[in-house]
Amino acid sequence: MDLSGHLLPTPLQELLDDRLVKAGIQVFVKRDDLVHPEVSGNKWRKLKYVLREVEERGLSKVLTFGGAYSNHLYAVAAAGSAMGLETIGIVRGEQPVEESATLQFCRHKGMQLDFVSREQYKQRQAPDYLVSLSEEFDNPYMIPEGGTTALALPGVREMVAEVAAQLGKSPDCFCVAAGTGGTAAGILSSGANVLAFAVLKGGRFLRDDIAALTSGLSNKGSLKLQTDYHFGGYAKWNAELLTFIDDFKIRFGIQLEQVYTGKMFFGLFDLVQKGYFPRGSVIVAVHTGGLQGLLRR
Ligand SMILES: Cc1ncc(COP(=O)(O)O)c(C=O)c1O
Repeated sequence: MDLSGHLLPTPLQELLDDRLVKAGIQVFVKRDDLVHPEVSGNKWRKLKYVLREVEERGLSKVLTFGGAYSNHLYAVAAAGSAMGLETIGIVRGEQPVEESATLQFCRHKGMQLDFVSREQYKQRQAPDYLVSLSEEFDNPYMIPEGGTTALALPGVREMVAEVAAQLGKSPDCFCVAAGTGGTAAGILSSGANVLAFAVLKGGRFLRDDIAALTSGLSNKGSLKLQTDYHFGGYAKWNAELLTFIDDFKIRFGIQLEQVYTGKMFFGLFDLVQKGYFPRGSVIVAVHTGGLQGLLRR
């Protein structure tokens, strides 16, 4: 993926904060939100080798899946346009009267949008449905929802390697927001430990999904999964979370959003206050981007 305007390695920024000093721990933020203005955060990492395969196979068309506010659709539309690829987005739910800013951006980048019912969308991994999509759209390269495939892992490992070089050692654990679990799986596959924060309700399934993504790999890190910081479910939030995001911006100059990174950092600071991390811990929290989905207030 050769997109101009990227920043690599992304900065590693230490959070200077009384609560962390009191707990005797260090927290660094891996600023992957800064990697590229349009293909941001974990999307850059996860799509790099997927899109390289598309290029190497000389293919010209990709199809993928997402909701109306999907960071993944946004990133695929942008990367596809920059690479001269035709892109198709299968969008969950009926076509709204007014499309989200995310979908408008995707169209602007040339993505063809195909709206399917929520019931149909649930079939997005079913072989029969994939065959019918392949026929309908003339054999595109299919990228699963969130870009989560085995090819997502090596790009995420590059982020881990950057951190090791920047810190001069590996941190005790990486904190990351988890939707499909692909990013957490990539970090684990490098041998690093992960504390993953499920952003959706009932996120315990993520443990199995992450295990499946990393099965057969040796030298895996250990996974801890937090399922209590979903704020009611995927893309749900409350005033407390929005206040936390505002406060975080004032303290550290780092913008979070309410669907992924806000929940992860909220959970991280809550655990710090509860004495969860042993003194002396060095933690790297990954800013996985997604700011295009920031709630406009
Ligand atoms: C900004 C952001 N952070 C985190 C995630 C979660 O990543 P994963 O689906 O790899 O668990 C996503 C998801 O898709 C995302 O858009």
